[in-house]
Amino acid sequence: MCFPSSRPSLASDAPIGIFDSGIGGLTVAHAIAQAMPAERMLYFGDTAHMPYGDRSPELVRTYSVRIAEFLANEGCKAIVMACNSASATAKAAVQASVPSNVPVIDVVAPVVRHLSRQGVQRVGVIGTRATIGSGIYGHSLREAQRSGGMMDGDVQEWATPLLAPLIEEGWQSHELMLPVIQGYLEAAGWHAGDQRHIDALVLGCTHYPLAEQAFSQVLGPEVHLVDGPTVVAAAVSAALKEQGILAPSGGPSVQHQFMVSDLTDNFVRSAQRFFGKEVHLVPGGPWFQH
Ligand code: DGL
Repeated sequence: MCFPSSRPSLASDAPIGIFDSGIGGLTVAHAIAQAMPAERMLYFGDTAHMPYGDRSPELVRTYSVRIAEFLANEGCKAIVMACNSASATAKAAVQASVPSNVPVIDVVAPVVRHLSRQGVQRVGVIGTRATIGSGIYGHSLREAQRSGGMMDGDVQEWATPLLAPLIEEGWQSHELMLPVIQGYLEAAGWHAGDQRHIDALVLGCTHYPLAEQAFSQVLGPEVHLVDGPTVVAAAVSAALKEQGILAPSGGPSVQHQFMVSDLTDNFVRSAQRFFGKEVHLVPGGPWFQH
């Protein structure tokens, strides 16, 4: 299905639709809930089709469009693509598949804007194969630097596909995390203290914020770790404000909905770690048969 035109009006008390390939996007949902406690969220994790990071761009686009249409059909007033792999490959297709006045917020553009506003020149980006293969961070950062009148900075992008499964396993603080992070960075030619040093590292996968401590331990305090979920939550707030659809505050406490396309005990356990508090996951979404 395709929504050719805009919706007559967007209801401010409608939920924000948020989706990811799985439960990593709950780090973004958590930041949104912290920043905007009056907002109701409908979260969908496509656990049946994850990991998106190893899929082709065409397949990630197909899944993303289907999910965005589902969320729009459920009456969501905005769509947040809480997955870097989907943001890198499917933003335009998702925007085209929902009513034109439903804002679509991805997780790449807000981080790029944040870095270029701060004038950061030497940036490292880590993420899935899909995200890094798209080159979206390097391309967008250089474009933002140029349009801000800055010289092209140094942007290095590294695929780190082992990290998301380790974090999902709950091993973000395990001693194995450090050699894995180190191994990836060294294989890419990065060594602390050399001239290829970076000023900031973008954690370009929504799983990675959980392992922030391990990254700081490897990189040292002088490398700024970009807090993607907080930056994205601010962009969502700005988009809702612009459309005049921020939820009225002061109402009763909101009830979020969390759906996944495949529900297992392991996802139930992990979801709590990613959202920071108990999450009631239910099976549902575009592929769900009643
Ligand atoms: N959450 C996804 C992302 O931000 C990574 C997990 C996956 O590969 O599905 O790219």
